Amino acid sequence: MNIILLGAPGAGKGTQASKIQAHYNLLHISTGDIFRANIKGGTEIGKLAKSYIDAGKLVPDEVTCDIVKDRLNWDDAKDGYMLDGFPRNVFQATELDKFAEIDLCLNIDVDEALLMDRICGRRVCSCGESYHVSTLNGATTCAKCGKELYRRADDNPETVKTRLDTYKSQTAPLIDYYRAQGKLATVTSGEMSPDEVFGQIKKILDK
Ligand code: AP5
Ligand code: MG
Repeated sequence: MNIILLGAPGAGKGTQASKIQAHYNLLHISTGDIFRANIKGGTEIGKLAKSYIDAGKLVPDEVTCDIVKDRLNWDDAKDGYMLDGFPRNVFQATELDKFAEIDLCLNIDVDEALLMDRICGRRVCSCGESYHVSTLNGATTCAKCGKELYRRADDNPETVKTRLDTYKSQTAPLIDYYRAQGKLATVTSGEMSPDEVFGQIKKILDK
């Protein structure tokens, strides 16, 4: 099964990807995580990506598409995968159709009013886990691996506003793109708790 997780910044793509990976043993590929690993490693891709990510804009399509095309060729992707944060515009979706066979696009629908608080309250771990300050009860380390939690550099109100604008103008049109292909499934419970959202996702995936 090859699936896409679509949704605005803060919709819960990473949170649900972690649950889907644990339950279905499905490989999680996040372009945002790949860029952040490159930034941390000081690579050329990281240097290029940083300026775009810090501004809330999309990293150029050629770079992003090449990374995903290469990643899908690894052996571990042969048994299926979920893409989180890719594609992010119609050009990337059209390119993806040239080198991959997508079964389903899960669109996590969340009221925009909730997104700013969700993102600005997010704390992440280098192991990939993410939390919200409201449920951490003051904890500063990851419940899964014990490492120190930190705030993403692009999780500040100004950058989030641009990320939301970028989502609306460039990514939201993908909802119609995958609906037209008959591959769209909408997760309407996006405002509910992470477990309730996952319950709806399970119903969709188990069908
Ligand atoms: P990326 O890392 O993909 O960020 P994003 O799309 O902005 O999405 P987020 O990771 O912020 O949100 P999420 O939906 O994963 O939410 P999460 O589960 O963490 O991309 C970052 C940047 O990289 C882009 O801006 C761009 O520059 C670049 N980039 C990446 N891919 C690219 C591409 N294809 N092309 C070009 N550039 C690209 O949840 C958020 C918070 O809410 C957390 O605190 C969480 O605990 C909480 N939460 C989650 N679910 C719930 C719930 N149900 N109820 C209450 N709280 C919840
Ligand atoms: Mg994410």
